[in-house]
Amino acid sequence: MTEKPTMIAFQDVHKYYGDYHALRGITATIRAGEFFSLLGPSGCGKTTLLRTIAGFEGISSGAVMIDGRNMAGVPANQRPTNMVFQSYAIFPHLTVAENVGFGLRKARLPKAELATRVGEALEMVGLKGYGDRAAHALSGGQRQRVALARALILKPKVLLLDEPLSALDKKMREQMQVELIRLQRQVGITFILVTHDQEEALVMSDRIAVMFEGEIAQLADPETLYRRPNSRKVANFIGTMNFLPAEILSEAGGKIEIEAQGFGKLTLEAEQAPGAASGDGAAVGFRPETLTILFEGQTASDRESMAVIEEVVYYGDMTYYDVRLDGTEKPIRISMRNVFGRPVLDIGARTRVAWSPGALVLFQ
Ligand SMILES: Nc1ncnc2c1ncn2[C@@H]1O[C@H](COP(=O)(O)OP(=O)(O)O)[C@@H](O)[C@H]1O
Ligand SMILES: [Mg+2]
Repeated sequence: MTEKPTMIAFQDVHKYYGDYHALRGITATIRAGEFFSLLGPSGCGKTTLLRTIAGFEGISSGAVMIDGRNMAGVPANQRPTNMVFQSYAIFPHLTVAENVGFGLRKARLPKAELATRVGEALEMVGLKGYGDRAAHALSGGQRQRVALARALILKPKVLLLDEPLSALDKKMREQMQVELIRLQRQVGITFILVTHDQEEALVMSDRIAVMFEGEIAQLADPETLYRRPNSRKVANFIGTMNFLPAEILSEAGGKIEIEAQGFGKLTLEAEQAPGAASGDGAAVGFRPETLTILFEGQTASDRESMAVIEEVVYYGDMTYYDVRLDGTEKPIRISMRNVFGRPVLDIGARTRVAWSPGALVLFQ
């Protein structure tokens, strides 16, 4: 597959608000037609970075390129971007159609053409036939759709979405996530989503930039971020990661020899250490679903350790076990899918645990 051309390029972008260093050297590219997310905790600079694309925020140094063109000095209304705000910014006194057509009012299109364009945009977001409704009478999910239609009608190259789903309840949010993915595939333009919700980012994105304190900590596709986070901080922000202390014994020829508490001596591949790691104070990390509790008669396909169960949390479809491997000080979490006919184990039970060296990640 050929790589898609670059749509956005950040070149060492810095942004100060007075003395406050909000963006600290952002260098990254976003490809044409990509569903890209900026993910990070509140205050890390996601909105600021998004606004530098839109042109609502100037930068202190560096460059923001869109479609090969440096955006320095290019005002927001002359950029090929459009933004959907967290608050939707719907005009309540206008109809749905008037809201959607609002951005086109300067284009002075013939009435019939305007109506066609509005109709197309409404159909795209699943609001066909809603044009004459009063905007103030819409539900949260419908307002969100109107905001999307209003942005898409201008046919931007890049759609910018700042936490567009955060005001919706969980069910509606999950439904809108699926619809946004479908919409992005349909229109084929670049979507850039800001979210603090790691699950939302994993579900929706082709690639994700994880941000902390004005910097990109890791930029990768969802699977790489989840399987091979490059720092403990990224690992902890995305899902649950167990850690056990490890010592690096030797490194040569793309292999890393370690001794990990609870697991013993192991050889890892270099790609299992995506961040720099050396010497003491290292740790191996692993996700709760990469370990398996072995029940009567089952055998490990790879390695096996003994453990004691210290806590059991039953979730219906899943059970989370906190278990302490022999030779370790603190418990780790194992998640098991509950299947028919398999018992849920009790606290204090001794059990065998299956694991694989390939599922481990080495961190400093
Ligand atoms: N207009 C502004 N003036 C001063 N500080 C700001 C301004 N906008 C944002 N900040 C600060 O910059 C940091 C990043 O903000 P923001 O980009 O909104 O973060 P996020 O969207 O990740 O929550 C925060 O500490 C915020 O308080
Ligand atoms: Mg924000």
